[in-house]
Formats: sequence, structure tokens, C-alpha cells
Amino acid sequence: MHMLKEPFENRSGKLFIDGVPAEKLAEEFGTPLYVMSEERIRANYRRLRKAFSAHYGKIRIYYAAKTNTNISVLKILAGEGAHVDAVSPGEVSLALKAGFAADKILFTGTSVRTDELEFLAARAIAVNADSLSPLERLLGIKTPELFSARVNPEVGAGHHSHVVTAGKETKFGLWQDDAVKAYGLAKKAGVRRFGIHMHIGAGVLDTEPFLLALDRLLGIAKKIRVETGVEFEFVDMGGGLGVPYKPGEKELDLAVFSENILSLFKKRAAEYGLGEPVFCLEPGRYLVCDAGALLAAVNTVKTTPFKKFIGVDAGLNTLLRPALYGSYHHILSAGKLDLPDTQTCDVVGQICESGDVLARDRRLPEIAEGDLLAVLNAGAYGFSMSSQYNSRPRAAEALVKNGDYELIRERETLEDLLARQRIARWLK
Ligand SMILES: Cc1ncc(COP(=O)(O)O)c(C=O)c1O
Repeated sequence: MHMLKEPFENRSGKLFIDGVPAEKLAEEFGTPLYVMSEERIRANYRRLRKAFSAHYGKIRIYYAAKTNTNISVLKILAGEGAHVDAVSPGEVSLALKAGFAADKILFTGTSVRTDELEFLAARAIAVNADSLSPLERLLGIKTPELFSARVNPEVGAGHHSHVVTAGKETKFGLWQDDAVKAYGLAKKAGVRRFGIHMHIGAGVLDTEPFLLALDRLLGIAKKIRVETGVEFEFVDMGGGLGVPYKPGEKELDLAVFSENILSLFKKRAAEYGLGEPVFCLEPGRYLVCDAGALLAAVNTVKTTPFKKFIGVDAGLNTLLRPALYGSYHHILSAGKLDLPDTQTCDVVGQICESGDVLARDRRLPEIAEGDLLAVLNAGAYGFSMSSQYNSRPRAAEALVKNGDYELIRERETLEDLLARQRIARWLK
């Protein structure tokens, strides 16, 4: 028996996602299939906004688009009033297509090319620079109205070393002295509006690293203000709010989290003469992760002298996180929710890599070929990190809403594998 939370539901042993049977979705659209719940995305956004708004009047939430750039997902969040954090011209263009106004987009790219800065300048997209170079090049193109810097608050955190994005080891962000220089430069060039930003890492379930980093960020903001005279319109704490992946893992207590963060923010803002800037968050995972599942069909069941392997039609090409970070994703047998877990097995994909393991030594009920599995928490960094590795077309995506459902991304076909390829003249 499995305890499920909305939008997932056990109806007589069958998995339903916001009122739609998982098996029906798989039958209609095929597998592997990403399924996103609109209501869950909306509920996540509203819960977060409400918790923070209870302590401070000026809250803004940027959705970190990299998490899931399906245009329907973007539209849902645009409709909720979210702003958007984009890290590439591609994300900017998808956000604009989804209906986000240009002034609701903040670009936080790293190692940015000059033609990308030109693309942003032409669309009046605010740039959050993470080194001096893009700022200098941007000023050479056009003086922006608003400038913000991604500052390294010297405190990082995250579920894996790859996702710690502040501190000594990281490529991201401006250290204090360069940050002071950057704002001085921008002000001198005629920029009139300013924000300041950090992003410490991902999958953080403790308040402490955020508090330490925010404290440092505000200290740096004070120094910038004193030395350059810049006044900050917004302070962006970044994203990284974790969600539980493993059964028994505790979720962030938003009431306590928001109160702790905002009391520190208000105290320091008053102490440092920063006024009342808009307080921004930049979550990705928190908004969409538990709204999505990846449905995969079982192709093979294989027993070796050492292990049992359940071979499915998804893998590291579809969901990279387990291979990349060793991440845990809970897996359900979509048609056997009432059966006890009687076996220990590895759930593996179709990719020719031994690291193509979605779950290791996992307890599951007896599984037969043809069964449908649901990999939970796949709404974040699922499709967006997927690839055509091993020349497998990318998966389809569906959106469910209160018993209704629709395809929101067609499955790629074999033709897509050839898209934009050319045969060299001498091979023709
Ligand atoms: C600049 C920035 N903001 C926000 C996020 C979102 O992180 P998360 O999905 O963990 O909230 C990321 C993730 O990499 C990021 O790089």
C-alpha cells in the first residue's frame, strides 16, 4: 500500500492522476509519457506565494524555466502572475511565446555570448550578470534600464556537489569586490534601476544555508549601496527550495521557512538602509516537481544470479537525474497499488550504459512484462534534461486537469532524429 498525495490517487489499486487513470493515458498516448497536473502546479505556486506574502507586502516569484519549459506549463505559471527566470535565449523566447511580458523576465545566463546579449537587449530583457564581462559587453550594446548582478554569497548548498552554485568551487556569481565594481560601472553608464541576486544551489530542505547566504548577500548589498549609491529595487534569494523525493523525507515547513527568511530580510534591510525592496524567490523544482510523473512500460523482467532487473522503456535519455546525481525517484506500479512489495529489483532503461538505472535495489510488487510503472517527482528536470541518446526520439507529454487530459507535446518520431542533419557533399 502506498500513501499518495495530490494529484496522485489510488482507486482500487489503480493510479489516477488528477482524476485520470494512468493506464488510460499510457494507452492513448503511448510510453514513455510525462504527465503534468495543472492544479498541482497552481497549488504549489499559490501556497508559496501565500506563505511569503503573510510576512511581507512585496513578494515576487520568478519561475526557473529550465525546470520544465513546456509551453503549457509556462502558460499556467504566467496565468498565476509569476515572473520568469531564463538562462538562455531559448528560454526567453519560449517565455515570451507563453505570454510573459518582457519586463517579467530576468536573464541569469552564465558564459553568455555577445550575440545573446544583443538578443536580450533587442527585447529589453533585464540581464542578471554573473561576471563583469557580460556587463561590459552589454553596456557596449545599449545601456539597460535595469541591472542586476548574481552575487556569490560564499555559502552554497544542494542535494549533490554538481548543483551547489555558490561558494569557493563554483563558476557562478560575482564575488563582493567585483560586484561593487559592476554596480559602479552600471551606474556610471546611466543605468537607473537595480536589483541584486543570488542562487545558492538546488534541492535544499534546510533553512540554515538560505539564512547564512541571504545575510551575506544583504551585507554585500549594503557595501554596494554605501560605495556606489545604488538603491535596490529588488533582492532575489534565488531558487533551490527542495521537495521530498523519498518516502519519509520531510517537506519544507513553508510557514517557518518564510517567517525566518523574511524576518532576517526585514531586519537587515532596515539596519542597512536598504529600504523596502521587492523580495524575490526563483524556484523551479518547488513549483513543478511533484506535479509530474513519468509513465514507463515494462519491456523485460530478467533475473541474474545476483539481481533482478525490470527493464522499462524510459531511461537516462528520458530522466537523467538518477544517473547524473544518483537521485532517488519513487516508483509505483500503476496497476498494482494494492499489492505488497515482495521483491527487490533494479529498474533499468533501454540505454547502453550500466549507469542507466532509474532505481536501485527497490522494493516493488511482482512485476510482469507489459505492466505500467510511474516514476514520481518527474515534473522538474525531467523532459528538460532529456536527450536523443542512443537515437531514441524524445518522449511525449500530457497535461491533466480534473479528469480531463490533453497531449501537450507530441512524441518525437524517427524523422526527428534526422532533423537538421546534412549529408556531407562528398558522401552523397
Ligand atoms: C539561477 C537559478 N535560479 C533558479 C534555479 C532553480 O532551482 P530549483 O529548481 O532548485 O528551485 C536554478 C537552477 O539551477 C538556477 O540556476
